[in-house]
Amino acid sequence: MGVIEEIKFSGREHAGVDPAFRQDVLDGLAQTQKAIPARWFYDLAGSELFEQITTLDEYYPTRTEIGLLERHGADVGAVIGTGRAVVEFGSGSSLKTPLLLRAIDPAAYVPLDISGEFLRQSSEALAVKFPQFPVLPVEADFTRPVHLPADVRDMPMLGFFPGSTIGNMVPRVAIDLLRSMRATLGNGAFLLIGFDRVKDVDRLVAAYDDARGVTAAFNLNLLHRINRELDGDIAVSAFRHVARWNPDWSRIEMHLEAVEDVAFHVCGQGFRMAAGETIHTENSHKYTPNQARLLLQAAGWGPSASWTDDGDDFLLVLAEATELRTAP
Ligand code: AVJ
Repeated sequence: MGVIEEIKFSGREHAGVDPAFRQDVLDGLAQTQKAIPARWFYDLAGSELFEQITTLDEYYPTRTEIGLLERHGADVGAVIGTGRAVVEFGSGSSLKTPLLLRAIDPAAYVPLDISGEFLRQSSEALAVKFPQFPVLPVEADFTRPVHLPADVRDMPMLGFFPGSTIGNMVPRVAIDLLRSMRATLGNGAFLLIGFDRVKDVDRLVAAYDDARGVTAAFNLNLLHRINRELDGDIAVSAFRHVARWNPDWSRIEMHLEAVEDVAFHVCGQGFRMAAGETIHTENSHKYTPNQARLLLQAAGWGPSASWTDDGDDFLLVLAEATELRTAP
């Protein structure tokens, strides 16, 4: 068998294995508190379940943020002016992105995403909707500073980071990310970012543990994905979805709790969990307006306007890049 055939053969044996997924799962399951990064929720089934979550009665963030963009998009435009390049961190939502782009009359739209597939699909749809400016997708890991296309590098920028995705990160990682965004966008840039607000704990827990069990299915889908993609034999029925409030970190945590003693394999490695032990799968940090402001300031962003809904559920902040000056 020639070299090419051998590669093909081994490729078939490990079809679809993402080495980063494998690494994160094996490392995460080896920890004392088992933990798997939340980004691995979003395979095809997980993305569809998340879409369903956004329509649940209990899950207020998506519809509240859309309402804020509808109501205050023109206010954003009044502060930042026309002719900016909108740089979205993530490949864009089919609802929120058009709302913003219609409200502010931009000169270009640049979605950044690590996954080229989603990026191409959503960019083509947007380019059809908005023929009046170029849509220039960039496949990149935006947790680091990104080189923007030459066509937009001299334009004034508006970064867009909706969805309270910032809440998935612990504060030190959130600040690193906001600093990278500051470096990507440069002096004179604005950033429009969504934060989910601290509120009644019962409502927060209900938003992550809905009555229909969609969030439970979303969480448990991670185990199905491990079984499918990483040759796992996890008894998914031996786990239950748990959403709990952690007051020290001001966050909802999602866990997968073993309801009995379990033993399983992933990629040929054996693991054991005692009844009651959990795999930590997601953090969703909640912010007060003051905490949100401090987070932004710590990363080189000065808040210049913010909007919230009548229920004080969600916060949309427009921040401007600050420049380091000599201390007074
Ligand atoms: C997409 C990270 C904003 O934390 O609210 C929803 C993900 N997880 N329900 C969130 C999620 C469970 C969501 N974010």
